[in-house]
Amino acid sequence: MISMKEDIKISRIISTGYLARATMAILLLSLGYTIGLLSSSSSPSRPPNTQLLLHVQSDANPNNCTTLKPDNPPPTPPDLLRFNTKCSEPIPEDQIYRTILDNLWDGVSPYSGFPSPATAEHLLPLSSKPRGWGSTTPVFQDLISAVRPQTIIELGTFLGASALHMAQLTRNISLPSTLILCIDDFRSWPGARRYLHRDLPVPHHADALLLHQFMLAVQNANETHRVLPFPFSTNSALAALCTWGVYGDLIEVDAGHDFHSAWADINMAWAVLRPGGVLFGHDYFTKADNMGVRRAVTLFAKVNGLRVRPHGQHWVLSPKPQLQPQTSR
Ligand SMILES: C[S@@+](CC[C@H](N)C(=O)[O-])C[C@H]1O[C@@H](n2cnc3c(N)ncnc32)[C@H](O)[C@@H]1O
Repeated sequence: MISMKEDIKISRIISTGYLARATMAILLLSLGYTIGLLSSSSSPSRPPNTQLLLHVQSDANPNNCTTLKPDNPPPTPPDLLRFNTKCSEPIPEDQIYRTILDNLWDGVSPYSGFPSPATAEHLLPLSSKPRGWGSTTPVFQDLISAVRPQTIIELGTFLGASALHMAQLTRNISLPSTLILCIDDFRSWPGARRYLHRDLPVPHHADALLLHQFMLAVQNANETHRVLPFPFSTNSALAALCTWGVYGDLIEVDAGHDFHSAWADINMAWAVLRPGGVLFGHDYFTKADNMGVRRAVTLFAKVNGLRVRPHGQHWVLSPKPQLQPQTSR
């Protein structure tokens, strides 16, 4: 029989043994982890495990993490910079209007029967000049006279101030059939109502009604046969135009003003710009997103060997080079 005293003694010996072994195991684990970390950051044969390093850095005391920083940032994945530059063969200019109607509205004009009484009751009375930003500055007159466009594509239309101004300018130079495609999701931007409530209808069941307010202005200007809304995101609209072989002679970029929006819009718009055509845009000097528009335009020009010409608040790129004729061997 083991006495109570002996029992306690034995269990002390056992528990001390466990403690010693557990301590040893923890020490070995920590040693292995430290060796692993040091070899992963110093071994020349293996690239640093950036994820692990970043994770460790974010948890560690910032004063002690200098040795864990990767020497070089990871290379930029190529897909990040890749845009489709080759679109379908261009369809004839006189088929563009029909192509848009067929693909978006089963061949029916969106102005047919517009506005229904149910829509009209939500719209604001027409103002003589819809709200816009730099929408009638001289750049429009200069470029329309120089390019004499058959098809204009606008990214960012809002209430149609710049689109209707361009319509008037084409009329002035005897181009009353120039088609103007107005790409806009017609939602403006979150928070716009706080300071633009006088210019915008009261939303109805979360619909901003910007599209319908714009259409009313187009109807009032008698331009429904050629000023067409394209009510989608710039990204999806430009991808569709590229697939359908719809090109513009003059394209204005005035939608999202952060770097990534402008960068995507410019790249995708360039793909549907007809050779010899001109791409231009608003807000070259806006401070939004740390001069995001300007950074995107400058980068695009640099990558493609183009010139950027500031024109008032706008930027204008040198015309898209004509296609080089194929040399026969
Ligand atoms: C500054 S306003 C355009 C003003 C117009 N060009 C004028 O001068 O009268 C910008 C417009 O771009 C639209 N927009 C912004 N980001 C967009 C996107 N990713 N896709 C479609 N439309 C967008 C907004 O709905 C808004 O109506």
